[in-house]
Amino acid sequence: MEFSERISSLQPSAIREIFKVIGDPSIISFAGGNPDPRSFPVEQMSALAENIFKNDPVTAFQYSVTEGYPRLRRLIAERLSSKFGIGSENDDVLVLTGGQQAVDLTSKILVNDGDTVICEEPSFIGALNTFRSYRANLVGVPMEDDGINVEKLEQALKTEKNVKLLYLIPTFQNPMGVTMSDSKREKVYELAKKYGVIIFEDDPYGELRFSGKDVKRIKSLDKDGIVIYSSSFSKILSPGMRMGYVCAPKSILAKMTVGKQCADVHTNIFFQILVADYLEKCDIDAHIEKIRALYKEKNAAMLRALDERMPSFVKYTRPEGGLFIWCDLGDGFNTNDFSKKLISKGLAVVPGSAFLMDDKAASTAIRLNYSMPDFEQIDKGVTILAQTIGEEK
Ligand SMILES: Cc1ncc(COP(=O)(O)O)c(C=O)c1O
Repeated sequence: MEFSERISSLQPSAIREIFKVIGDPSIISFAGGNPDPRSFPVEQMSALAENIFKNDPVTAFQYSVTEGYPRLRRLIAERLSSKFGIGSENDDVLVLTGGQQAVDLTSKILVNDGDTVICEEPSFIGALNTFRSYRANLVGVPMEDDGINVEKLEQALKTEKNVKLLYLIPTFQNPMGVTMSDSKREKVYELAKKYGVIIFEDDPYGELRFSGKDVKRIKSLDKDGIVIYSSSFSKILSPGMRMGYVCAPKSILAKMTVGKQCADVHTNIFFQILVADYLEKCDIDAHIEKIRALYKEKNAAMLRALDERMPSFVKYTRPEGGLFIWCDLGDGFNTNDFSKKLISKGLAVVPGSAFLMDDKAASTAIRLNYSMPDFEQIDKGVTILAQTIGEEK
């Protein structure tokens, strides 16, 4: 079989190889990005679901419009505006099949073969693979403690050809857990404006803050119609529902709508009604508070274990929210090999190379997830990590 160049250039990623072993109950996984199952509002959702099948089955079973269920679009737009100051009269909201589809449709409408997409480095593997599938030229800009390096970003914007998109995860970044400071958000916005580049603000974790001060969304600065804001209900309600959305200028959304018609016609309408009912009848903010409290404890448990057991040369981030800690083991570690060794000892992590623009490059870092393992697994997993580092040095 001769497959397209588009798909042939994509390699099965290291992360997928690791996921194959995660199903093994004897392996502790710090590798995924799954929410804690206790964060799913099962009881409320099941009552609402029953109600939909009783009272509005035809809408739930019939074809629907590509842009999304109107009541849900309105509720999302109201929430974005009231909570984050997002959305002008030139913007609108489109409901999508997960935040992942926002990355795909954005690439589809903006990126030609060989066009440049600038990303934070390291960055989210799902987005990088999407950009690769559109044959983009990926350019990474290094991260600092308060987000992307702005000087290096400007250099890339100045020197790279056909830059179409600046892909950012400014809040509780995946994989680093780092949050971009407010002052950098303003600088980054001004740079994108100066160089005529669209910003994709990917924000699936923004509501999962468990410490520190809230930050402005870059989209809230958008007076010029240059920011596509993307988020989803995956990390605050359920990823299995595949409910995502974008808020962006209407001209961009019109093109995305055409792209979505080619992809999946519309997002699952039953779940759109369910989420709209949930937003109207339940208290999502109270629900999010509970998730924040849970992740605050889990993050603290992992940091405590790392503080106790890591040698001083190992450096790790201290996120104020989200799901991940980035752990740099320092010179001498090739974490592709090291993560295989960890699996043989019963711990799965993702090697840092999975998040690099050149995924064949070596990395000295690993990504650790604390939302999915329970407290005992967090403790035991960090012990395995410390012992295995000890054996290497
Ligand atoms: C940075 C980032 N963007 C987008 C997504 C996609 O999420 P979903 O498609 O479940 O909304 C994820 C999922 O982990 C992510 O980490």
